[in-house]
Amino acid sequence: MPGESVLIVGGGQAAAQLVVSLRLGGHGGPITLVSDESAPPYQRPPLSKQYLAGELERERLLLRRAEYYESRDVELRLGRRVLSVDRGHKLAVLDNGEELRYDRLVLATGSVLRKLDAPGSDLPGIHYLRSLDDADALHEELAPGRRIVIVGGGYIGLEVAATAAKAGAEVTVLEAEERVMSRVASAAVADWLTGLHRQSGVRIRVGEQVRGFAGRRRVEAVETGNGPFAADAVVVGIGVLPSADLARECGLGEDDGILADEHCRTEDEAVLAAGDCARAVNTALGFAVRLESVQNAVDHGQVAASVILGDPKPYSGVPWFWSDQFHAKLQIAGLARPADETILRGDPTSGSFAAFRLRDDRLTAVEAVSSPRDFMAGKKLIASGSAPDPVQLIDESVALKDLIQA
Ligand code: NAI
Repeated sequence: MPGESVLIVGGGQAAAQLVVSLRLGGHGGPITLVSDESAPPYQRPPLSKQYLAGELERERLLLRRAEYYESRDVELRLGRRVLSVDRGHKLAVLDNGEELRYDRLVLATGSVLRKLDAPGSDLPGIHYLRSLDDADALHEELAPGRRIVIVGGGYIGLEVAATAAKAGAEVTVLEAEERVMSRVASAAVADWLTGLHRQSGVRIRVGEQVRGFAGRRRVEAVETGNGPFAADAVVVGIGVLPSADLARECGLGEDDGILADEHCRTEDEAVLAAGDCARAVNTALGFAVRLESVQNAVDHGQVAASVILGDPKPYSGVPWFWSDQFHAKLQIAGLARPADETILRGDPTSGSFAAFRLRDDRLTAVEAVSSPRDFMAGKKLIASGSAPDPVQLIDESVALKDLIQA
């Protein structure tokens, strides 16, 4: 129905993509986007990289300028939260008491930061990084000689470490697990990244449990069992949780993410879920998955739009991720489990190589370090469901594209 009114809760990448795809697809009905942030949807990836380094202007981060929404008759309700949803009456209630009616509701609520609950965690100088405002505040802390202690050696931790080190700060990363990036990468790639950081002057400590923060007026040290780590500022990057409260409160199924089918539809046909908050069925993988990535948000935005436009497309992309740290570009395609086998193509000491992950002879993921060709070919191999011969996979004289089984 072209005239349906669409209410989007959230103002991230998935929400922006949905708006763009709806209008491009000819949706003529009203679109309202409610976001608790003060800026229109923007790109988050530069927040830990170029934007944090002060190399990119704020305006450049916007996915679309404010005029775009005006000219497409999209109502942006910024600085507002949806407090509750009455699915029976198809009504959403905002934090100013206003009620908004919808034909279609899209929950694109994203994720919320996992907070570190430890003594002293409220001290000034302890930062998290999720929003533009967070990045602005953290940018102020980066200067030559400043001691920056980062809790968490995941994407945020390592990208911020690289940016801070490049700014001349003295950086220490405290990771609780026995290696960095254990959620997303193999031990081989994690070890290589650890080496890269150490060569660049970043101190990485694994197996560190934070017990608390010390300081009088602001943070001065991070306490672990192995002694205090002196800090002029602290960054905590210990992961995120899906923002699913609204869905839960209005009775929608939720299990580490709002449950959705391959069309991003929840159990209520008027309600869709998209982006970090959604656990949707991915037809390439054959199961429901919740991912935190730009690509996933874009895919979901497009899928949700296709449903509203009346021509439903399934969510079927092979997941992929990237990270820039110092001069290295890490690109990952597919999803591996920790127990998946790892084999290497190329020599890590050259600075360019790929780790292939295998389970039951199937390729589950490729983790390419400064090797875009291996990434692209590996992604195609995964999409084709190929079971390449591991001997050929690591033989650099064999072109990966020749291993794709139709
Ligand atoms: P993450 O899940 O990537 O990494 C969290 C890290 O913190 C893990 O290594 C974990 O073992 C560690 N950790 C957990 N609790 C800890 C504790 N108490 N003490 C010390 N270490 C602890 O999450 P991260 O880095 O916070 O990123 C947040 C979100 O931002 C994610 O959704 C991520 O995908 C996204 N992001 C993605 C980027 C990319 O794709 N390049 C870049 C920056 C952020």
